[in-house]
Amino acid sequence: SLSKETYGYQMCLYQNFWCPKFSLEPVIALQRDFQACDTDIFVINMPKTGTTWFKSLLFSLFNRSNEGLLNTQLQTHNPHELILSLEITIYAKDKNPDLTKMPSPRLFSTHLPYDSLPESVKNSKCKIIYITRNPFDTFVSSWHYYSKLENVDNNVGCSSTMEEYFNKFCKGRSLYGPFFDHLMGYWKESLERPKKVLFLKYEDLKEDGVLQMKKVAEFVGFPFSIEEEKQGVVEDLIKLCSIESLKEMEVNKKGKCDPDFENKCFFRKGVVGDAANYLTPPMVERLTKIMEEKLNGSGLSF
Ligand code: A3P
Repeated sequence: SLSKETYGYQMCLYQNFWCPKFSLEPVIALQRDFQACDTDIFVINMPKTGTTWFKSLLFSLFNRSNEGLLNTQLQTHNPHELILSLEITIYAKDKNPDLTKMPSPRLFSTHLPYDSLPESVKNSKCKIIYITRNPFDTFVSSWHYYSKLENVDNNVGCSSTMEEYFNKFCKGRSLYGPFFDHLMGYWKESLERPKKVLFLKYEDLKEDGVLQMKKVAEFVGFPFSIEEEKQGVVEDLIKLCSIESLKEMEVNKKGKCDPDFENKCFFRKGVVGDAANYLTPPMVERLTKIMEEKLNGSGLSF
């Protein structure tokens, strides 16, 4: 059977996307067996575009009460343990998991492209929140992250230089990529079915988290009341889930919920525009050109 130990982060082209080899079996199992409920909510994105952050926000949004935010679980669990990934965690641990006992609404995450989602996710009334981030910062973030993998035979990046890794990214060869195909799949759905897919940008969350989280709360059918807004619950949510706050939590300083990465690896700078410190002008020019071609006429820009 496929395992991380055997395959590292090697990728294989599966259904037109680059699937990490260790996720292939879980992906096939979940595509075959997962049954979505109308009340399910999915956090979907490409790696390094804000998964951890958004999981903490969505979990806290649902786990609020009349007394405000209940942050105890966030203090003791990394966000990836609070909203589980279908392919990385649930179906990787158990090929036939019983998910029927999970409290409703069930919150899940996945990195699968739209076309590869199980049919029941596409066809039920469940909701999808898609997060994306500008490709420059996404690339730089993933470079830092995957270069932490040591002694692993992989073709994600750490065995190559940043230039080689950039070359692959530009050719669409990144985990769950091509990057632009992934986001265009969800962008189109969000335009056609706005009640089904909410499309968010990391940069917008950074700029006005309060506005974006009000939008999310409405979208998932759990809006903030006027009373909550007066009490500043939305602002508290943003503060609780800020990178500064999450980084300081003991579980994120010392814990490890992924065999390859300590929890602290999920929190680096958390800013917009860090790519300018790493990419050369020719690199920026090359990726800008690709981005313009891919997004041309879509109404989407970064
Ligand atoms: P950088 O490497 O640019 O700092 P993912 O969670 O999808 O793996 O994405 C990781 C990126 O999100 C990293 O970006 C990380 O620092 C950033 N991040 C993590 N928590 C965040 C938060 N609370 N607010 C903003 N960015 C955050």
